[in-house]
Amino acid sequence: MNCPLQMGYKEYHMHPEIHFLLNDREMCVSEHPAMLVLDYLRNRERLMGTKEGCREGDCGACAVLVGELSGERVVYKSVTSCLTPLGVLHGKHLVTIEGLNMPHLSPVQQAIVDEGATQCGFCTPGIVVSLTGYLMEDHRALMGDGAKKHLSGHLCRCTGYRSIKQAADQVEKAADNNRGMGLLVASKMLPGYFLEIPARLRRISEINVSNEEGSPDFFIAGGTDIYLQKDDLLTESRVGILSRRPGMKGIRRKDGYLYVGALTTFEEFARHTETIKVIPHIGEYISQIASLQMRNRATVGGNIINASPIGDITILLLALESLLVFKDGEKSRTAPITSFYKGYKQLDKTPSEILWEILIPEPASGVLINFEKVSKRKFLDVASVNSAMRVRCEDGVIREIGLAMGGVAPVPLFLKATCQYFLGKQVSREVIEGAFPILQNEISPIGDIRGSADYKRLLARQLCIAHFTKIFPERVKVRDFYEPC
Ligand SMILES: Cc1cc2nc3c(=O)[nH]c(=O)nc-3n(C[C@H](O)[C@H](O)[C@H](O)COP(=O)(O)OP(=O)(O)OC[C@H]3O[C@@H](n4cnc5c(N)ncnc54)[C@H](O)[C@@H]3O)c2cc1C
Ligand code: FES
Ligand code: FES
Repeated sequence: MNCPLQMGYKEYHMHPEIHFLLNDREMCVSEHPAMLVLDYLRNRERLMGTKEGCREGDCGACAVLVGELSGERVVYKSVTSCLTPLGVLHGKHLVTIEGLNMPHLSPVQQAIVDEGATQCGFCTPGIVVSLTGYLMEDHRALMGDGAKKHLSGHLCRCTGYRSIKQAADQVEKAADNNRGMGLLVASKMLPGYFLEIPARLRRISEINVSNEEGSPDFFIAGGTDIYLQKDDLLTESRVGILSRRPGMKGIRRKDGYLYVGALTTFEEFARHTETIKVIPHIGEYISQIASLQMRNRATVGGNIINASPIGDITILLLALESLLVFKDGEKSRTAPITSFYKGYKQLDKTPSEILWEILIPEPASGVLINFEKVSKRKFLDVASVNSAMRVRCEDGVIREIGLAMGGVAPVPLFLKATCQYFLGKQVSREVIEGAFPILQNEISPIGDIRGSADYKRLLARQLCIAHFTKIFPERVKVRDFYEPC
């Protein structure tokens, strides 16, 4: 164990301690909390199995598992260590490829060997880690998911993927019979020390540690955006690791709202039964947003505050006319998301305010929701233009509507005038076409690597059509909007 007592006075007092388990070892470190887990593993611990590829969350070579106590058991998620700050590991179990070593090959490693799914081997440790994470998921989380989905954030420049997918299929077959940590250890899929992890984590969670002091220069939630913007600055600054503040996670329903803690990750948000009740097709939408490893880190709050004009969850929350709850010390205030964005990356928020939770109004009966995203690649890409619509009709007449669009203005845009136009009108081709001039007047896209301004204007029109044709197929069809050839 790296005990603080063995460190110099200055080093010990500089940062709050981070207590965690690294594979089967108990650690207590006083490194800068913004140090990346990848750098810690390779430079401090000399655990070189975790590879550094893109350092931007895109390749998966640096994947590790992070386990967290949930009741009696530990829930593991694969994440990219190149965008994960060391500070979030407090009280958790960090598993690297070295921590999966056993005297024999694990079934995941064996499947990779059997299928010839490795050549240069650079991507292989990350893939083994993610597929092992799949084996460790509980039955419920596996519903509708396959082992292949756990490969979503992994790039391989050698194999052409076929052999890797076949290895994933073999792992999936092995998963059928083995559920729960006890069975996984008994069937030699995991090393025996995993059985002791829950008790060891409980002991660690009882240790009292000081939290960071004073007001930080930067808050870090998931870290998937801020490390791309300010990587070099963070370890030179005072940072606030938001996961060390209790009460910012989780989803509950109360008084006509779905309360979503700002630290809730994309994946937690999409899988939660309460979210599915409010946004029934969220599972379909989320598959178009980043990779699993990224969704296990990226938070709903981070998506709102980073203020990207193409933030996917933000666009959905805008269409739902959500409310934002901010806290600053003892002070708290609630404001609508529709008036939160004042200009490019300009927010209606003071630097010390923390976005605490998001309140999504529970849709009235009959409300239908749709989300659309167009990007250069269908999966694992940010949007050229994205859009969400919430609508309620009575006898074909629009009584309630929220339409939001991203990539068409310096901010994620709530299309107020277009919504106003639609209210009280019958859903028909003529009415939808009548909205186009108003919509085009509300947006101001610019050309960039994701498309020209003209292309984005065209997409704005197409996505508006897509919403109505998907939600009301009995009233309008895609072919209604095109001249026959
Ligand atoms: C490979 C990759 C793929 C991606 N794909 C997508 C995609 O498909 N769609 C998409 O929308 N985004 C995508 N992103 C962007 C990013 O993952 C999201 O914007 C994510 O929601 C950011 O959340 P975070 O918790 O990681 O934010 P962080 O990086 O931790 O923080 C972002 C900013 O918000 C501030 N902040 C965060 N939380 C709070 C809070 N609660 N209160 C106050 N300030 C806060 C931070 O200080 C920082 O300035 C991708 C990113 C990567 C690296
Ligand atoms: S190094 Fe590529 S995802 Fe981390
Ligand atoms: S085996 Fe070489 S990158 Fe995958």
